[in-house]
Amino acid sequence: MSARILVVDDKRDLARGVALVLSKLQAEIAVAHSAEEALELLEREPADVVLSDIRMPGRDGLSLLDCVRERWPQAHVILFTGYGTIDSAVDAMRRGAFDYLTKPFNNDELLVVTERALNEIRDQQEIARLRAELRGTYDFHGIYSRDRHMQPVIEAIRRVAPTSATVLIWGESGTGKELVARAIHAESPRANRPFVAFNAAALPETLAEAELFGCKKGAYTSADRDRKGLFLEADGGTLLIDEVASMPIGLQGKLLRTLQEREVLPLGSGTPIQVDARVIATTNEEARRLLRENRLRRDLYYRLSVMRIAVPALRQRIEDIPLLAELFLERLTSPEKVAKRLSPGALRLLISHDWPGNVRELQNVVERAALMARGEEVSPADMTLEDDDLDWQPEDAESVPYEEAKRSAIERFQRRYVEHLMHEAEGNISAAARKANMTRAALHRILKRLGLAAEGEIDAELEEGREEEPSSLV
Ligand SMILES: Nc1ncnc2c1ncn2[C@@H]1O[C@H](COP(=O)(O)OP(=O)(O)OP(=O)(O)O)[C@@H](O)[C@H]1O
Ligand SMILES: [Mg+2]
Repeated sequence: MSARILVVDDKRDLARGVALVLSKLQAEIAVAHSAEEALELLEREPADVVLSDIRMPGRDGLSLLDCVRERWPQAHVILFTGYGTIDSAVDAMRRGAFDYLTKPFNNDELLVVTERALNEIRDQQEIARLRAELRGTYDFHGIYSRDRHMQPVIEAIRRVAPTSATVLIWGESGTGKELVARAIHAESPRANRPFVAFNAAALPETLAEAELFGCKKGAYTSADRDRKGLFLEADGGTLLIDEVASMPIGLQGKLLRTLQEREVLPLGSGTPIQVDARVIATTNEEARRLLRENRLRRDLYYRLSVMRIAVPALRQRIEDIPLLAELFLERLTSPEKVAKRLSPGALRLLISHDWPGNVRELQNVVERAALMARGEEVSPADMTLEDDDLDWQPEDAESVPYEEAKRSAIERFQRRYVEHLMHEAEGNISAAARKANMTRAALHRILKRLGLAAEGEIDAELEEGREEEPSSLV
């Protein structure tokens, strides 16, 4: 789509002259001879750049500027000021003009200023396009992702959504389990029925039971009224049982019966009520361990895990880190402003972090950093990352062979070391290598193995500095 320029001047020959000069640019050009006529034209077809004289009979250029700023804020306005209207020029800039030209101006001045305005508009449109793409291409009911390791999750959601099968979602804390549950609901035929979430943690058993299955007045000491219960609230829709293993074992039995019989028995009532709620449960601990420690009933586990979805940890889907960081930066920003951006060093740092708190942690880090950053750019210095817990725990070794445990411990050490190193060196690989007293090639190998930076990027940097060990580049 070609850009559109509107030239406004009451002096017809001047307007024509300007239009003629600008016809060299790749843009459509329209001419108006008063502010009123300009507004009419804009109404019919908005322009990207408006060039206008300040002094005109009727509505003047400044008033036109105000009008355009208000109604077409994306458009750039350039004003022509004559001798003796310097004050107006200052005023114009303050009121949001893109620039001004003092008459008489030559063709080059006119072309340069107009081209600058057009380029800026193109950049803004490009950013808007990229952001729209970011939204459209990778957003699945609020789950943003581009890393291929998330693909199985999205496919699983698509597959289970049309059914009423129970689903067990497993994933570390903060990986987006609730988001996945909501996506299943949103993608299902139940989408316009309620989505209800229940979390038993920190509730005494009786209260949890009343909350979930409902109760008759007087069923327990503080039950001062009948309660419907979340199961029935979710009738026709979806019930999310968050952290299913935090439910007392007795209640887990009642949940199992409800799933089998498709009816709930409110506390203190003898009459079961039919219910049709699709149940999705989440857990952030491995099922094997929960079963072994008897924190999850085996029969309930089998019933729930008709379909299992494992949400990968953020460190296992590195390509999502820049995407999500960008998303969270953008969400912080009001629509009319341009979001802050991450410096390359900041991005490298984010990519090399271990993210024990996953997406939630990334969101917190990015939001804090954006507050810290003074300018448009978020730098490594603006970011605070928690140290990962490197301590070896006996239970870590439970089901893992020695070699595998060792490899993973070494990798965690390298990750942590390199992350700290890159942080200190503000993302500069050469400086980092110097600090660690290793060759850049060696650091490069580690970064590459850990998948900590785009390969092209590192290779480019190595090439630039004429790497001393070219054989190790492969
Ligand atoms: N892929 C994603 N795209 C956008 N936002 C995400 C994504 N994954 C997670 N989030 C955001 O990260 C935060 C944590 O997600 P969510 O609550 O779903 O995680 P969780 O696995 O249920 O965490 P917990 O185990 O602590 O309950 C939320 O604010 C969520 O919106
Ligand atoms: Mg959750």
